[in-house]
Amino acid sequence: MSSPSLVDVPGLNFDWLNLDTEQGMRVNAGRRGLTLEQINAMTYGVDPYDEGGAAVFKPRGARADERSPRHARQYRSKADVWSESAMLLYEEANQRQWSSAVDIPWDEVKPLPDDLEWAMCTLCTFLTQVEFIAGDLPGRFMEQVHPDHFEAQLFLGTQIMDESRHLDVFRKRALVNGGGMVDAGFGAINLLAVDDFTEMTALLHLVGEGFVQTLFRMGELISQNEAEKKIFRLAAQDESRHLAFGVTHLKYVMDTEPWRKEELHHYLDMQEGALGQSQQASLTTNPTTGEALAILAGGGIEKIDEGFQKLMIMRKRQVNEYMHRLEVIGLGDRRERMAAGMRELLDPVK
Ligand SMILES: [Fe+2]
Ligand SMILES: [Fe+2]
Repeated sequence: MSSPSLVDVPGLNFDWLNLDTEQGMRVNAGRRGLTLEQINAMTYGVDPYDEGGAAVFKPRGARADERSPRHARQYRSKADVWSESAMLLYEEANQRQWSSAVDIPWDEVKPLPDDLEWAMCTLCTFLTQVEFIAGDLPGRFMEQVHPDHFEAQLFLGTQIMDESRHLDVFRKRALVNGGGMVDAGFGAINLLAVDDFTEMTALLHLVGEGFVQTLFRMGELISQNEAEKKIFRLAAQDESRHLAFGVTHLKYVMDTEPWRKEELHHYLDMQEGALGQSQQASLTTNPTTGEALAILAGGGIEKIDEGFQKLMIMRKRQVNEYMHRLEVIGLGDRRERMAAGMRELLDPVK
């Protein structure tokens, strides 16, 4: 016996269903499941020559309802928001979410001497400030992504989730072991004045998160226990995605709109200048946190000089990794115009 279908119901037919869009995609889920990349085909794929029409409430590949209102605040040009890695990074972010509540071995945090505990609380308060901005800023741009380029918007959504977790894990570490939140000095407030997607990406994803990622990746040096090591390791993994988005977005801009090179250099001139005033060997945006890092890296306040020497190695690594990313983007000529305090740390060209 066949079950009744819509067409059997008197007065109902498929008139409501618009079939003049493309039909017939068949995709098998692969090793990583069914990914966005796999369905990025036919008219549902992102148009490589897209110059973005006016944005309306229309998912890519669908036909817009004629009444659909326009969005006034959305970028039209693909290069304004696009990264060739956005869909991959989005999928990866979904697969690699972790929980600050249960994935960190909090029992491993044991009472520490006061200098080390206060230093860790200072660093964690500073990172809480920084992570807040790292989530807040992409949040401001989510609604400006054209629906045709939605993968970039989805990626920003995962970044906001990641940064929320970073904010909360560093807050937990500051409060879990008898210390507290302190005055950790200046954060990264200048980023909140950013007014453009690519400017955000240059300042936040490339410079800010690049430096933070190097710091996290060297977390072994400043950690006092397995819980802290794991916090830094997992947070570094997340930052790698944010950084990859930044590098691939800026590379896309350089590949497709090379005349914007000076604009990109200008963003970096500003950010390197802002960092140069306060960084020196501190790796962060203020001397208070720099001293806290040196105490942690040295293993106590009496070994702060040793700590500063270790920080200098990290600082060199930060700057050289930054230079490498600039080369990938197509901004290798920045070597000559980098802020002096950073340029002097560059390894010679091989
Ligand atoms: Fe973060
Ligand atoms: Fe981040």
